Amino acid sequence: MSTTASSEKDRVVIFDTTLRDGEQCPGATMTHDEKLEVAELLDTMGVDIIEAGFPIASDGDFAAVQEIARRTRNAVVCGLARAGFKDIDRCAEAIKPARRGRIHTFLSTSPVHMKWKLQKEPHEVYEMVIAQVTRARNHTDDVEWSSEDGTRTEHDFLCRCVEGAINAGATTINIPDTVGYATPDEYFELIKMVRERVPNSDQARFSVHCHNDLGMAVANSLAGVRAGARQIECTVNGIGERAGNAALEEVVMAMRVRNDVLPYWTGIDATMLTRASKLVSAATSFPVQYNKAIVGRNAFAHESGIHQDGMLKHTQTYEIMTPESVGVKQTSLVMGKHSGRHAFQHKLEELGYELSGNQLDDAFVRFKALADRKKHVYDEDIEALVDEEIAHAQDRIKLVSLSIIAGTRGPQRATMKLDLDGRAMIEECEGNGPVDATFNCIKAMVPHDAVLELYQVHAVTEGTDAQAEVSVRLSEDGRAVTARGADPDTLVASAKAYLGALNKLTARNQRSKDEPQRRIHSTDVG
Ligand code: KIV
Ligand code: ZN
Repeated sequence: MSTTASSEKDRVVIFDTTLRDGEQCPGATMTHDEKLEVAELLDTMGVDIIEAGFPIASDGDFAAVQEIARRTRNAVVCGLARAGFKDIDRCAEAIKPARRGRIHTFLSTSPVHMKWKLQKEPHEVYEMVIAQVTRARNHTDDVEWSSEDGTRTEHDFLCRCVEGAINAGATTINIPDTVGYATPDEYFELIKMVRERVPNSDQARFSVHCHNDLGMAVANSLAGVRAGARQIECTVNGIGERAGNAALEEVVMAMRVRNDVLPYWTGIDATMLTRASKLVSAATSFPVQYNKAIVGRNAFAHESGIHQDGMLKHTQTYEIMTPESVGVKQTSLVMGKHSGRHAFQHKLEELGYELSGNQLDDAFVRFKALADRKKHVYDEDIEALVDEEIAHAQDRIKLVSLSIIAGTRGPQRATMKLDLDGRAMIEECEGNGPVDATFNCIKAMVPHDAVLELYQVHAVTEGTDAQAEVSVRLSEDGRAVTARGADPDTLVASAKAYLGALNKLTARNQRSKDEPQRRIHSTDVG
């Protein structure tokens, strides 16, 4: 990758909206700590702008944007705001601690949105555009304006709004394909037309924001870049409203692998793409589809004899990029019950973990127990095991044992032993199924008001002896925590996940007792 002045014009800025458009899609809610962890990784991997949230939407969103603004070292931290001054001022307050902050303000410009959503005439919308950008510019020099539903907007009106927004001080103009309706050719022509027709277009950077309703978000984004846009708005794993947004890993690798026809470059460290994908999948509990481009588990897997034969002769027969280039480590050690402590430690280092002392000892004991029960121990199994070890080191409530009577003749019955702050407890409960019986035991021993919002099971690897990974989300007083538990026994994994979430809630309640809560005023989202 060259960074010479002559190629600066081909630099594409990556605007990541995983924490805003991604997080606002149904079921992808992340906790405060998970958002901070994702933001830190995005910053480290070279994302240029992190859209950290929608500050007026909730106190939780405000607090996350503010904390990300405080912590981020390199990226610009951006908050989203509608056209109202209250939104914009709240957004400005949230991004204030950032070294570099941006206000992203948007307004619908298409006939269907103006008529039905805004119930405003075009001339009123135009006045609002000028007012919103002017207001944002009073807070910061870095203002992005988006014409929501831009691809279904009449061209004359779109050009008028864009020109007005730039005159009012917008430095980035985003033309979203909000409903994922455009085709690549159409989107190319639209971006080209706006850049050519708007007289002051050279005073702003153009941006693309494409939704994936027809599966064309990445193709449309790249078409927009070919037409002169130099910012792509995207999300890790392509999560986002409805069918999602353009996937960050796909746009980055398309420009890298096909640089012959897409001669643009980004500042992203592609070797971190797989890690980012795993982190976002874990934080949102959204599994990554197996055949997902770049980061799916099959993206570099070759099963058929013909493909394997070709790969053994030369990897370029069936691979257009190396797994290492996107951060997939090639398996070098096959782990099983005969593997020793040294090999285990070596494997952990290969997977990017640094455990020492008691943590390493405990993880090794658990690895041996797993290897006794499972024929093949895959990297994913070890990752699940160690992640759990790290996450639960400080837990006050620990699972000691669980036995279940299940089957066609109910009621199902669970007997559970817990260690609560060093005190042994035992309980037996019935339930409507074995999971219900398990959770009833926990509720009987650790009474609480938290509500179960999500219970999700998936297999870490394939086969009937695969480890189950269970995600549980509990919410209490309007705040949610998510935890995962892994075990070859789905019911044990379920108990671990529930207890993990309960431990997180207990720790959080303890923290808020210890330090006086930061006061955040509640806002009217209108
Ligand atoms: O899809 C969209 O139009 C958006 C805007 C807020 C940029 O997400
Ligand atoms: Zn969007």
